[in-house]
Amino acid sequence: MTDDAAPLAFTPALERATAAVWDRIKDEVTPLEWRLHAPLIAQIRKLAQDRGAVILAHNYMTPEIFHGVGDVVGDSLALAREAARTDAAVIVQAGVKFMAETSKVLSPQKRVLIPNLEAGCSLASSITGADVALIRQRFPTLPIVAYVNTNADVKAEVDICCTSANAVQVVEWAARVWGVDRVILLPDEFLARNVARQTEVKIIAWAGSCEVHERFTAEDIFELRLAYPGAQILAHPECPAEVIAACDFAGSTTAMSDHVIATKPRQAILITECSMAANVAAEAPATQFVRPCNLCPHMKKITLEGIRDALLLDQFEVAVESTLIERAARSVQRMIDLPPPTQPARYDLVKARHHVDVEMI
Ligand code: 13P
Ligand code: SF4
Repeated sequence: MTDDAAPLAFTPALERATAAVWDRIKDEVTPLEWRLHAPLIAQIRKLAQDRGAVILAHNYMTPEIFHGVGDVVGDSLALAREAARTDAAVIVQAGVKFMAETSKVLSPQKRVLIPNLEAGCSLASSITGADVALIRQRFPTLPIVAYVNTNADVKAEVDICCTSANAVQVVEWAARVWGVDRVILLPDEFLARNVARQTEVKIIAWAGSCEVHERFTAEDIFELRLAYPGAQILAHPECPAEVIAACDFAGSTTAMSDHVIATKPRQAILITECSMAANVAAEAPATQFVRPCNLCPHMKKITLEGIRDALLLDQFEVAVESTLIERAARSVQRMIDLPPPTQPARYDLVKARHHVDVEMI
């Protein structure tokens, strides 16, 4: 075993070196867990430094990853922007595969590693590039916008990508540039329905959904309101439109996090993946979190051990077919080139409460 591979011990020196992370997450992990996490965090930091690697960590990573080893943390949009601008030689994507593919198409000369190749996404697996080619034949004059939660073959076929943080902006941009009043937004039907309520542009949608967010119902929200009167309820726009309409705030993962940190509610309820509340809690000590969350089985495949092994064993490299890279990069780059929002976009809840039809493909 090389020095790098040797697991570090939880010595008093290591405890001191990692004390700042412990201080942030001590309400989220037990002292017993911390004795296992801290040596891995120290080992990962050293390996990343030695390899000139940057670790991009999504908001749904567990707190020991998010606060312990993420060099850049945020929502899909922030991570894509960072992948485009980083000068690190290696990118380790602490997130799911579509995020790593996005990094790869934006930085094809870099080595992009994902700790677990099985970290998929129900939205990304709901549609293929061949499906998009058929949609194009059926609607040849309309722009096609793909949520960034798609594989590279889909990104290669569409006109531009979006995330939950800029979907309304991107749809309105596409309608303006193409000079049309209808835009295809795929593959998330729920995001499409939520975007349709925010804009005059008519939306054509695909029947994909997020297996984490589709499970929340408006009844869940009404019950939470009764049980926790006064709590601020925030939801991700991958939730059904009735859920968004019943909440106090809707936006991307970073928009939700920023909002809680800025407004400091006494109680908050995040209608999204479970690690969000754990990560925001570290930055919002005045807020008590009620946690009716769902776990994303894909995001939870990423662990500290997996990140350590990715750096140590140089695995698992994310490859995108050379025939797709350029076209997929164009769709993502077009999105990145739009003026960045001054703050991650929030959804207007007055509009969210008015039903608007979408046309299903
Ligand atoms: P964000 O773009 O808001 O980070 O969401 C990504 C995601 O996968 C949510 O389920
Ligand atoms: Fe995909 Fe949903 Fe998991 Fe996000 S939370 S990665 S959209 S399955």
